[in-house]
Amino acid sequence: MKVSPGIALLLLSARCTGAPPPMTTFAPKSDFAEWTRTLYLQVIAWDTLILVIVAVATLLAIFRYSTRVRAQHEAPPASPESLALEVTWTVGPALVLLAIAIPTIRTTFRFQPAVALANALTVKVTAHQWWWEVQYPDLEIRTANEIHLPMGQPVQLELQSADIIHSFWVPALGGKRDVIPGHMNTMTLVASVPGVYLGQCAEFCGLSHANMRFRVFVDTPAEFTTWSTHQAAPAAVPGRPLETAGAVAAGAQLYATSLCVTCHTINGVSTQTVGPDLTHFASRTTLAGGIADNTPDNLAAWLRDPEAVKPGAQMPNLGLSSQEVSQLVAYLESLT
Ligand code: CUA
Repeated sequence: MKVSPGIALLLLSARCTGAPPPMTTFAPKSDFAEWTRTLYLQVIAWDTLILVIVAVATLLAIFRYSTRVRAQHEAPPASPESLALEVTWTVGPALVLLAIAIPTIRTTFRFQPAVALANALTVKVTAHQWWWEVQYPDLEIRTANEIHLPMGQPVQLELQSADIIHSFWVPALGGKRDVIPGHMNTMTLVASVPGVYLGQCAEFCGLSHANMRFRVFVDTPAEFTTWSTHQAAPAAVPGRPLETAGAVAAGAQLYATSLCVTCHTINGVSTQTVGPDLTHFASRTTLAGGIADNTPDNLAAWLRDPEAVKPGAQMPNLGLSSQEVSQLVAYLESLT
């Protein structure tokens, strides 16, 4: 696949502006992430202990049996079988593995409870090659690639796949969870610090696996209410703002009569769910599975040639003229 220098530069700049904090397990922003970090530190402590023991034993053996140090060349004495040694190096590692396994299993089940939490906000996340569909059944909201969660409220994520196996991972909010076709995994958490946290598909799922990103916005309760009320409202009416009314109206007309409607939903216009819901497209900060900032230039590049922006993209190149691209950009960017 050839990427033009212009598009490469555009994507590079998109990735560098207003970047969220790095993806790290060491700066937890939820209860699940706190537990994950504790677990991680425990494993590191055990690993360090084993490393020290093995290193010291190796050094002792080197000096004890070095022919140069001993200034002699005969083989070291053959050791008779030692039951005590056999038992020690069998039982020792088994105990260490047990010490790691017990808190790991406890953490895994604590944040994947068999029964849904009574007061939790349900968020359905469906993985697609290579983007994330997000639904809030109780709030009648459908969006993509950007998940908003209220701070301090338990959230139950219901993770499903529309095609193959993916993995849902937001390091700042908790451990990975596989997303499997025909099977629902859940993840519960209480986000504790407002902010934007990067997520990434963590299971190789094809050509654009690395481009299957998403963002989690942890909002204050008031911000979340504002966001969810707006998302649940009907789509913007074409023709506003007035200065771009002509292009917006032309874009709306083009959208409604083109192949766009065979894949996308815009409430009141189209109803297909093959691709992301676009009802409030302009309210999102990113596009193309979270790999580029949602700007008119990036959207135009995406519409002109999706494959050039995201290898393997399932959105076809519709062969749009530059005027058609401008009209669609004007329309989609009016859908706040
Ligand atoms: Cu989806 Cu990797």
